[in-house]
Amino acid sequence: MAGAFFGRVVVVTGASSGIGRELARQLAAAGARVGLVARREDALRELAELIRAAGGEAVVAPADVADRAQATAAVAVVRDAFGPVDLMIANAGVGAPTRLDPVNVPDVEAMIRVNVLGVVYAFAAVMPDMLARRSGHLAAVSSLASYLALPGESGYCASKAAVNTYLAGLQAHLRGRGVTVTTLCPGFVKTAMTEGNDFWMPGLLTAEEAARRMLRALSRRKAVYNFPLSCRLLVGLARWLPAWAVGRVMADYNDTAAGH
Ligand SMILES: NC(=O)c1ccc[n+]([C@@H]2O[C@H](COP(=O)([O-])OP(=O)(O)OC[C@H]3O[C@@H](n4cnc5c(N)ncnc54)[C@H](OP(=O)(O)O)[C@@H]3O)[C@@H](O)[C@H]2O)c1
Repeated sequence: MAGAFFGRVVVVTGASSGIGRELARQLAAAGARVGLVARREDALRELAELIRAAGGEAVVAPADVADRAQATAAVAVVRDAFGPVDLMIANAGVGAPTRLDPVNVPDVEAMIRVNVLGVVYAFAAVMPDMLARRSGHLAAVSSLASYLALPGESGYCASKAAVNTYLAGLQAHLRGRGVTVTTLCPGFVKTAMTEGNDFWMPGLLTAEEAARRMLRALSRRKAVYNFPLSCRLLVGLARWLPAWAVGRVMADYNDTAAGH
């Protein structure tokens, strides 16, 4: 990985906490000039100070990624500060359980807006420069949940499955245009998103370790990176289970899940 990010202009959405914060911190430590995007400006400023104190470069660009104008403006802030974006990591995401009665429509809408449209808007903001320069790297943080259809998590799983499909299509579409596409699918990571979960989270990684593995996958320009292996194997197994068995395994989880 050494040198892969040195001098590169990288945007990380969802940089105010969890995986995104760690990605930004490690990228800056590797010599990247990092654009920090999320809604919580205070948290972004604190991270930018931490990065600068360690000798790195960062610019704060607060935005709601579910708002296309804000996402585009945030990328413009980064471009003005550092130049065209070499790597866009669309990491911002939200998770909420899917409920039946009443159906929690606003939660599902938020997951589609942030998890899916947030990726589309972030990529759209950098695509013209990348195509013109015939160079760039588009990445999104999806989830191993994208391969499952879990009762109580159908909204989240559907949003991440949409991300996978969107990126797979882009990857084929961008072939020969100089732009790489990477789908990052972690299992469970210890962040604010999972802190309320009171069930077994196989292969739980720290945000630091998850970010380290993601950056290695990005430096190798992998198309899809599913990790960790233990969780990947369980997901593979779960895909073979009949729906009734999945429902039984998930029965307790449905009432307690904080979203993942
Ligand atoms: N933790 C896990 O186990 C796990 C597993 C698989 C995949 N993931 C994915 O990893 C990504 C990062 O999640 P995390 O675990 O690090 O959770 P997290 O600590 O809750 O971080 C989520 C980040 O997304 C940002 N965000 C949310 N809504 C946003 C919006 N509308 N506009 C801009 N930024 C927004 C948040 O910042 P603001 O609130 O400041 O806007 C925050 O920085 C997500 O896509 C998640 O689905 C997580």
